[in-house]
Amino acid sequence: MALAARIGPALSSHVPQKKIFVKTYGCQMNVYDSERMIDVMAPEGYVEAASPEEADIVVLNTCHIREKAAEKVYSELGRLRELKAEKAARGEKLVVGVAGCVAQAEGEEMRRRAPVVDIIVGPQNYHHLPDLVARSGNGGPAIVETEFPTEDKFESLPAPDRRKTLARGPTAFLTIQEGCDKFCTFCVVPYTRGSEFSRPVSRILDEARGLADAGVREITLLGQNVNAYHGENAKGRPATLGALLRALADIDGIERLRYTTSHPRDMDEELISAHAQVEKLMPYLHLPVQSGSDRILDLMNRQHTAETYIEIIARIRAARPDIALSSDFIVGFPGETEADFEATLDLIREVKFVQAYSFKYSPRPGTPASTRGEQIAEEVKTERLHRLQALLSEQSEAFNASCAGKVMPVLFDRRGRAPGQLLGRSPYLQPVHIDAGPDDLLGRIAPVIIEQGFANSLRGRLAESEKVIA
Ligand code: 5AD
Ligand code: SF4
Repeated sequence: MALAARIGPALSSHVPQKKIFVKTYGCQMNVYDSERMIDVMAPEGYVEAASPEEADIVVLNTCHIREKAAEKVYSELGRLRELKAEKAARGEKLVVGVAGCVAQAEGEEMRRRAPVVDIIVGPQNYHHLPDLVARSGNGGPAIVETEFPTEDKFESLPAPDRRKTLARGPTAFLTIQEGCDKFCTFCVVPYTRGSEFSRPVSRILDEARGLADAGVREITLLGQNVNAYHGENAKGRPATLGALLRALADIDGIERLRYTTSHPRDMDEELISAHAQVEKLMPYLHLPVQSGSDRILDLMNRQHTAETYIEIIARIRAARPDIALSSDFIVGFPGETEADFEATLDLIREVKFVQAYSFKYSPRPGTPASTRGEQIAEEVKTERLHRLQALLSEQSEAFNASCAGKVMPVLFDRRGRAPGQLLGRSPYLQPVHIDAGPDDLLGRIAPVIIEQGFANSLRGRLAESEKVIA
């Protein structure tokens, strides 16, 4: 059966079922966790709701990385308070849960500040969601579960549901590693997600085979510090990410592999050589540098310099000359001078990125940088961010423009708005659309002649539709 025929409404039902709605904030790891929360509630008779209005449970899967992200949660909780009251007036119940990193970091405070919340569950505890739901809803204070448990959450989670995987399309996330031991001085992750943990190779391969069997063609391996991966292999020894990628590449049906997010310190030789040798590993790497100033990198406790970062990039480019690079940047870290900021611009000019995420430094409670003097004025941060983003946009636009005339394999994953239009991704993760293509291309890779590059996407036409690769 072509995947196109299988991609459709997520679920249909005749009997009224209980429904869960999970709203995801933040990173891709939260996207994965949200899907798993829905999977873990399925045996309890819950299906996914299309909106909070039709749900019996609403879970906000939250992000704490910057203040703005965390604040959004409280405004959403305000809306849910109204919804809960409306439902109560109709004699209906609504269970409100908060999961993710805000739950982890602010559990007790949230219980006081937002009485609408029934369940507060940390990223390491959401496999207990069925039990928490069963215990909730008595109108009492929220149940808080944010301990770092000793058992392996992944072992308690059901395998991803085949039917839901089919409905989600040909690309999937697979979390292989969680937590971080790097302690960059600006970052809450080591506190909210805990210390590094890697899943065993065999469990990852099983999950990947299940995904391939359900029509997934591209897997993105996830971890807060994914290239620090050191899960146990069949011999009971730690495997590297390079070795894991090689094993995953042997799975039939999996055509593309990606991984994110990496730390420059953990780009070891085996991983770099995988970029040269593993054909299924896509020529795209997200490698956050944060700053181009050695002084700031040191204050950030990044454990690399601008020069060592550039050297690593050179080694990766030697292994895979067409690799496209993406990065994260923070402007206005405490003490950042104009000269420090200029050094970041210089690094960007030297490396050239096709994509980037950039942020104003946001002091996070409990992190060392938040209590440093020399906090930078908001206007200075804003002005630097504009300059940085202007340069980064120039580079990504130039890259997209340079793609015109090339033929690229595109993995089609959804229909566009216009009839006949199909959307997909290039190897370099650029969104690509074609104005006309057969529906059975969905879930497959086909060559596309790129006709035009835009700021954030590409437009093309099918090179030869019969030359579908997978
Ligand atoms: N302020 C601003 N940006 C931050 N990031 C992490 N912590 C902060 C913070 N306190 C950014 C980093 C990281 C990305 C996920 O978020 O660039 O790589
Ligand atoms: Fe945070 Fe990444 Fe640094 Fe870990 S390596 S502390 S997740 S920025």
